[in-house]
Amino acid sequence: MVPSLILSFVLLFFGSCHVRAQYVFAHFMVSNAGNFSVSDWESDIKLAQEAHIDAFALNIASDDPVNSPQVSNAFSAAGSLGFKLFFSFDYAGNGPWSKDDVIQLLTQYGSNSAYYQYDDLPFVSTFEGPDNADDWITIKTTLGGLFFMPDWSSLGAKAALEKGAGIIDGLFSWAAWPWGDRDSNTFTDASYLQYLNESGTALPYMMPVSPWFYTNLPGYDKNWLWRGDDLWYNRWQEVLFVQPEFVEIITWNDWGESHYIGPLHDNAYAPFSIGEAEFNYAENMPHDGWRQFLPFVIDTYKSGNAEITQEGVVAWYRLTSSTACGTGYTPGNTASELQLEFEPYDVVQDNIFFSALLGSAADVTVSIGGNEQVASWTYTPDGGIGIYHGSVPFTGLTGTVTVTITRGGSVIAEMAGEEILAECPNTWENWNAWVGYAMSDATISATPALDLSDRVCVKGTSLGNFAGLCEFTCQYGYCPISACTCLAMGAPVEPEVTLNVNGYPISGEDASYDGLCSYACNHDYCPDTACGSTEVPLTVPTVSDFSPPACIAGTGDGNLAGLCSYACAYGFCPILSCTCTGTGALVIAPDANTTVGGKAASGLVARDYDPLCDFSCSRTILEDVRLRALYMGNV
Ligand SMILES: *[C@@H]1O[C@H](CO)[C@@H](O)[C@H](O)[C@H]1NC(C)=O
Ligand SMILES: *[C@@H]1O[C@H](CO)[C@@H](O)[C@H](O)[C@H]1NC(C)=O
Ligand SMILES: *[C@@H]1O[C@H](CO)[C@@H](O)[C@H](O)[C@H]1NC(C)=O
Repeated sequence: MVPSLILSFVLLFFGSCHVRAQYVFAHFMVSNAGNFSVSDWESDIKLAQEAHIDAFALNIASDDPVNSPQVSNAFSAAGSLGFKLFFSFDYAGNGPWSKDDVIQLLTQYGSNSAYYQYDDLPFVSTFEGPDNADDWITIKTTLGGLFFMPDWSSLGAKAALEKGAGIIDGLFSWAAWPWGDRDSNTFTDASYLQYLNESGTALPYMMPVSPWFYTNLPGYDKNWLWRGDDLWYNRWQEVLFVQPEFVEIITWNDWGESHYIGPLHDNAYAPFSIGEAEFNYAENMPHDGWRQFLPFVIDTYKSGNAEITQEGVVAWYRLTSSTACGTGYTPGNTASELQLEFEPYDVVQDNIFFSALLGSAADVTVSIGGNEQVASWTYTPDGGIGIYHGSVPFTGLTGTVTVTITRGGSVIAEMAGEEILAECPNTWENWNAWVGYAMSDATISATPALDLSDRVCVKGTSLGNFAGLCEFTCQYGYCPISACTCLAMGAPVEPEVTLNVNGYPISGEDASYDGLCSYACNHDYCPDTACGSTEVPLTVPTVSDFSPPACIAGTGDGNLAGLCSYACAYGFCPILSCTCTGTGALVIAPDANTTVGGKAASGLVARDYDPLCDFSCSRTILEDVRLRALYMGNV
């Protein structure tokens, strides 16, 4: 009797240590709420509450005249509805915040009953701002403490943590989107968790979750997309596996980057006029469907399980195929973040993506323009209760889309979706998604049999040489996030064979393979391209095995050749102007002198030359008088 009591006490104790907090926030662009009344705030807040979101992270740019009236409106609305808000100081929008302005705003609102507190301190986040890290020493001292979780993603986890030593209380990552044509993975999350964990005090992590990314706002020098596709489904599965202390949804209302999950507002489209957009790519493109299953998934994340009371289906897709018209010069990935760029149609899939929340197994059918497609689930939840997910291609098809869920011949829910068109209604492809949903009228009661704490990984994968190993080990619950990404969780599955042998990484490999080879070989999967039976000295990688390749060499046509050859060597190789001819580990460019800009010389096409001239002029090439004369004018 006594020992078992002690044991359960110990388990409870460690259990409660592990699960510290679990909160979900949504990033709210206050600049897009310039025309909001208190009742507009109230209607958005009610929708966020219905979605089980805990608070809005109010993104505010310095010196933005909308801050004063709209922050005030937001706090009135949140106060009356019992919702929470906190500030996310945007250091990129209008440049750095002054310490005094930060102190003033937090003095005014930090103790407001609607201000979100954590550990009895006002919770504060940022978008970027690592150069102002030291400001926060004064800010915290002046205000008598804050819980400070900045996003300094431009630095990466290790440098952000170094920069924030003694200043931060945790870190938020902005890396919510997949690279190129890859699906989402958790390698960046793993690096944050590792460095935060090694900080000595195990600081908390705020994990980003986003459904989509497309921006084309020349007025803000922004034009790229990242793969959305299955992301909204996959990323939440990753959250359930990683179980971070905090989650922030990016975003509630950033129309200009197409990742909003809040309702559209006719009076909030300023980003398209200020950003000089060719057309408004958010109008008539609702994303409300993406909120429909949030109560279920957020409750599972927070409490370990959730009841389904209403079944339903959500589906999303673009309204034209990726080659229906011009790309809008939009690359997949962005050289502005030193990523290798792709053609957008090589990154996104022309698919109709669908998820269904179901209390038991059901069938899905998709029809496009009256033609029924062969549809099936790519993922089904453990025990049949939870979120199902899949997709079907719409290549070559046009017309009205219907996604129907049936069980034993009767319709559970039917989503009547927008028409897919043969030709683009606007000048260019709209890379944003149209999202629809339909919920069943019937009320049910179904709860997954296993709590999250009893679910383990049952399906996973990785990159390159790690893929096979992770696919083998993750199905049995061994899915280290430093090397693998877990795709699905469920009841534990026992390996069929146990050999009682050890396996080791082969020569030339590093410690990331250690546990995987040990586990896999012991269970009779010992690929000789990765693992062997003898222990050999390991290498220490200079670049993570999981960093995507960067451009390290490139060229361009005619006049562009010299510029491309300079910039592509440092990872800056815009596909519009240059061809990348070699990839590898990113070579860090000389520091830019930000007081020196560059743009196309007269007579050259700005779109082709401006970014390259700017990148190059601000660096050593400025010294190269010959190149300057050939290609560049100074800003
Ligand atoms: C955190 O650090 C502890 C102790 O060093 C280690 O046992 C644990 O596995 C680490 N967790 C992660 C997620 O790296
Ligand atoms: C507010 O409305 C005005 C007038 O229609 C519009 O010009 C402006 O862009 C709107 N502001 C926002 C943030 O959308
Ligand atoms: C940056 O460029 C400006 C203008 O050419 C020059 O005066 C300044 O010294 C440069 N700064 C550095 C750090 O090289």
